[in-house]
Amino acid sequence: MVSTVLNVRVGILTSGGDCPGLNAALWGASEALLSLGVEPVGVRDGFEGLLRRTPGDDSDVPLSKVDWVREVREGGTLLGSTRCHPHKNHEMVQRVSEAVKDLDALLVVGGDGSLRSAAKLRARLKKMGHELVLGCIPKTIDNDVAATEESIGFASAVQRAVDACDAAQSTARSHHRTMVVEVMGRHSGAIAAAVALAGSAQRCVIPEHVLDTASLVSWARSNPGSVIVIAEGAHVSGGPAHAYDAEGWILPGFPSSLVTTALTEEGIPARAVVLGHVLRGGIPVARDRELATSFGVRAALDVAAGKSSMAVLRSGHVETIAVENATLPASPLHDTVVERLSRLGLC
Ligand code: F6P
Repeated sequence: MVSTVLNVRVGILTSGGDCPGLNAALWGASEALLSLGVEPVGVRDGFEGLLRRTPGDDSDVPLSKVDWVREVREGGTLLGSTRCHPHKNHEMVQRVSEAVKDLDALLVVGGDGSLRSAAKLRARLKKMGHELVLGCIPKTIDNDVAATEESIGFASAVQRAVDACDAAQSTARSHHRTMVVEVMGRHSGAIAAAVALAGSAQRCVIPEHVLDTASLVSWARSNPGSVIVIAEGAHVSGGPAHAYDAEGWILPGFPSSLVTTALTEEGIPARAVVLGHVLRGGIPVARDRELATSFGVRAALDVAAGKSSMAVLRSGHVETIAVENATLPASPLHDTVVERLSRLGLC
């Protein structure tokens, strides 16, 4: 329960890759703040936008005036987002200190990189004598934010991937070919594992479990007309090292084309499909909206009471924990999930 209600202005921003459910988080946070007499101020374009912002900026989004009935159904974020890590140098930290002068707290909706950066930024500001009240809300379709059992966007991405893999079964079965469907997950096999456990793919290739190409080829030979789901960060044994883009991210399409080539070279008809950003788009499923709204409300109550924290799902309950938890490294898939996949012959 919140004991102190402050009359404050709270800035809210979304940072990192977009995902379904972000607007529901903004709704939950905004309405909870308004119910306490606090003004929710929407900062555009994540931390890049914050670095450009001046106090009282007229480019801020007045979140009290948003048509939430419409926006909670929309994918993406109505505030815009960028990938920017402001804790990294002194100039950026100082710029943030100026930019938030008219705000009493900041709520950040982000993935593990964004939330880590926000928590480190807060620590650096503190050293400069600036106490920033920070609320963290975890989102990422990769579901690898360590402190929470689930992050916003995961459920929608899994549903999108399941629909696509179910559809890929048709051509797999009709043409007796192997469909290799690549899903997002640079370091995380969470989406691919969920798709396989949902019964939508007959094999699953994930970064947490190195794939033996020869055994996959022999499996595909004896299971014609199947779907293999592969995470973009999966390691294919015997294949070349991952290809990276200029920013150091694994290039999408790489593991699925590697596997497809390996299969066709062995005379097994195969096709690759890369789902990529499609998994991050579209209408959020009910689970994401509910989780996001709940995270938003919970985090807002804390910052309105002047308390920094991180909203998480723990043992199925939405609660807040110390904000320092946001600095934990991204979590790999739980061993028991990998064990389950392997017991079912899925990986
Ligand atoms: O961080 C989440 C994620 O969805 C990754 O799985 C994926 O590789 C990445 O975002 C792609 O991000 P961008 O929008 O920068 O291409």
